[in-house]
Amino acid sequence: MPWVIRDVVNDVNKAVARRWQGLDPLLPEPSDLPEGCMAPLPSLGENGRPSGLGVCRHQHVPADTLAQTWGAAAKFVLTMRVREADTKPAVDDLLTQWREHLAHQPEARKDDTAAIINWPARDVTAVLALLRHGLQPMTVIAVRQAGRPLPTAGPKGPESPASKQPGLVIRPAEPADLDRVTELEMGVVRYDAHFGASVPRPATEALVRAETQAALAKRPGWTWLAEHNGQPVALAVVEPPEAATWIAGMTRPGATAYLQTMFVHPAQRSGGTGAALVRHVHDELDTRGIDLTVLHYAQVNPLSAPFWHRMGYRPLWSTWETRPAFALR
Ligand SMILES: CC(C)(COP(=O)(O)OP(=O)(O)OC[C@H]1O[C@@H](n2cnc3c(N)ncnc32)[C@H](O)[C@@H]1OP(=O)(O)O)[C@@H](O)C(=O)NCCC(=O)NCCS
Repeated sequence: MPWVIRDVVNDVNKAVARRWQGLDPLLPEPSDLPEGCMAPLPSLGENGRPSGLGVCRHQHVPADTLAQTWGAAAKFVLTMRVREADTKPAVDDLLTQWREHLAHQPEARKDDTAAIINWPARDVTAVLALLRHGLQPMTVIAVRQAGRPLPTAGPKGPESPASKQPGLVIRPAEPADLDRVTELEMGVVRYDAHFGASVPRPATEALVRAETQAALAKRPGWTWLAEHNGQPVALAVVEPPEAATWIAGMTRPGATAYLQTMFVHPAQRSGGTGAALVRHVHDELDTRGIDLTVLHYAQVNPLSAPFWHRMGYRPLWSTWETRPAFALR
């Protein structure tokens, strides 16, 4: 990056750092801008000074990776940094320039593509601009701080007899549980497909199985099964900090784990099983010194959003998308 651009990036990032800290103490310091497919797009303020920058990256997700089950095969990702408190004019301008750029990318015209923006959930001044350009809020990255107390018990609250779930046994999964864990993992993939959060592919089940097998062997103690009368009814899987570095930078520094999977068998839902399992997992994570736990949920998943908020999570980032990418307006 030439030094003039470097100076502008540093200057904008400094202002963004101040703004983000005021908005949400769990946001990170803004990282350096990633290397894009071209020089950063600038949005110039009234004084001719850049008030915002946008970097576009083109990502091709290989068919033989599980990442292709969690989104489009080709992703166009715009990283935006905006200096002013009212981000709408600069975001609008950057999105207009980005649409122009994508219009000249033959690849963005394919069906299995997405134009994607991660934006701080509390930076609400951009929302109207994002909507105006046809972007939809698809997923949320939510965060929980260690030791965060659960709400006090209501009629079915954490300490009530219903939540004690007679007959429910929670235990770490073992390599011999491969079939059970794979089946419950596939339950999440199938359910999230209703919201476009997952895109089941021909290779998905085999890839889930292979990843589960590796995780059970390499990371014992980070996958939990809940059993009712000896039958597996729920699953929780967490990536420990050393495996969660890919997402840890989305929040402030600290030992950060990623809650990768949570699934309760349909027949067992709304009876306290999910809460019992998550409480068990959180107790373990707190004991292991995890400061922050992050997870994704689909914005319109009617089960997960209320559940996670009840379990002490709250939105940190929103992921906005158009699918296909050329649907950006
Ligand atoms: C989300 C899920 C794990 C919740 O498990 P569960 O066993 O049904 O949840 P619980 O019965 O323990 O409910 C715990 C709390 O979550 C909330 N909740 C659960 N289901 C809810 C629903 N249908 N509507 C509103 N709130 C709900 C309630 O606040 C409930 O507490 P309360 O009963 O004290 O009010 C389960 O519905 C599921 O597996 N869904 C499909 C897969 C999925 O969406 N996974 C998460 C992907 S991110």
